[in-house]
Amino acid sequence: MVKIINPFITSGYVSPPYFCDREAESRQLIGDIANGNNVALISSRRMGKTGLITHCFHQKEIKDHYYSFFIDIYATNSLRDLVYLLSKEIVEQLKPFGKKAIEIFWTTVRSLQAGITFNVTGVPSFNVRLGDIQAVETTLDEIFRYLDRAGKPCVIAIDEFQQIHHYSDKNVEATLRTYIQRCQNARFIFAGSQRHIMDKIFTSASRPFYQSVSIQHLGSINPEEYVKFAVRLFHEHNRQVSPHIVETVYHRFDGITWYLQKVLNTLFSMTPVGSEATKKMIDEAVKSNVDAYKYAYSEALFRLPAKQKELLIAIAKEGIAEAVTSSQFIKKHSLTSSSSVQAALKGLLDKDFVTYEKGTYQVYDKFLVIWINENF
Ligand SMILES: Nc1ncnc2c1ncn2[C@@H]1O[C@H](COP(=O)(O)OP(=O)(O)OP(=O)(O)O)[C@@H](O)[C@H]1O
Ligand SMILES: [Mg+2]
Repeated sequence: MVKIINPFITSGYVSPPYFCDREAESRQLIGDIANGNNVALISSRRMGKTGLITHCFHQKEIKDHYYSFFIDIYATNSLRDLVYLLSKEIVEQLKPFGKKAIEIFWTTVRSLQAGITFNVTGVPSFNVRLGDIQAVETTLDEIFRYLDRAGKPCVIAIDEFQQIHHYSDKNVEATLRTYIQRCQNARFIFAGSQRHIMDKIFTSASRPFYQSVSIQHLGSINPEEYVKFAVRLFHEHNRQVSPHIVETVYHRFDGITWYLQKVLNTLFSMTPVGSEATKKMIDEAVKSNVDAYKYAYSEALFRLPAKQKELLIAIAKEGIAEAVTSSQFIKKHSLTSSSSVQAALKGLLDKDFVTYEKGTYQVYDKFLVIWINENF
């Protein structure tokens, strides 16, 4: 059992008491899997997709009935990278299930046999190197064949799925779609942000994944639930926080989970045992978080091309920016021209600085927005 010093977790997943609500969302996700549907889980950044998947994998409906595999493909550049991660994860997760479970994998995925060895007690180790995967399609084919005969149903979460959009391999979506559709014994969760890309992959009629998954959009945690959660955690650790303070933080960060957790984590750390968080502490807590990133932010802005930097600042000042290529916006923020804004925008979207939703642009990092507004 991990001893928790600060109950507001800011990275990863610990256990249900430190995880707020998401009951309906968990039911929906688990229900879809149980009913044989694949799911695309989409939200803006840091809302809690990865947390939700991990939380569901810890529930008995999944834990007791499925082999669950989770890969984060953010850092991958090709289908080969994906295949590598997936095979490694499968071997890793099968370890606790003993030699027999792994043997099915070992005998089915013949192209990786040489790289998977067993010690005297039958514990496997995965020594495959990326370069060992020579024929990607063959290995992929074998992995899917394995999934169909794994002995238990499987659920595979592919996090940061939008990354496949950047692979140079031809027809990745079509290839994956074909295998996934044929596979009877495994359900898939595709999680991702960068909504314009995820939406394109799953909702364009011309693309392979169209209408092949249930789409689950993840919104903010209900404010009342978050207030209850935060008040309880303070209370359980001999401190107090008023609902009003939690609400203030919630609204200041539009209910985006990571920012709430970061600020509450700091507020908690500022509150001595036996006492209560005060309103004044909110600004200090926010400032301390923004300050923690200030070198990273100035470095990041320094590295941006001038036009992108100007546009980023303009969007941050605007908060929610509409019609960024209009002459009015260009004039107001002393930008150059509609076409240069267009080009800069593409750069900022690609680098994930800015998100696009329903015709508006925002700087996705809320702490960066505060920092920019203080410094420019
Ligand atoms: N229900 C929850 N209760 C408490 N903390 C949560 C909850 N969901 C997520 N978190 C925390 O919020 C942070 C962001 O969550 P998570 O990483 O799951 O978001 P994400 O949508 O996957 O983000 P990204 O788009 O950056 O991958 C994490 O630190 C996580 O611990
Ligand atoms: Mg995530």
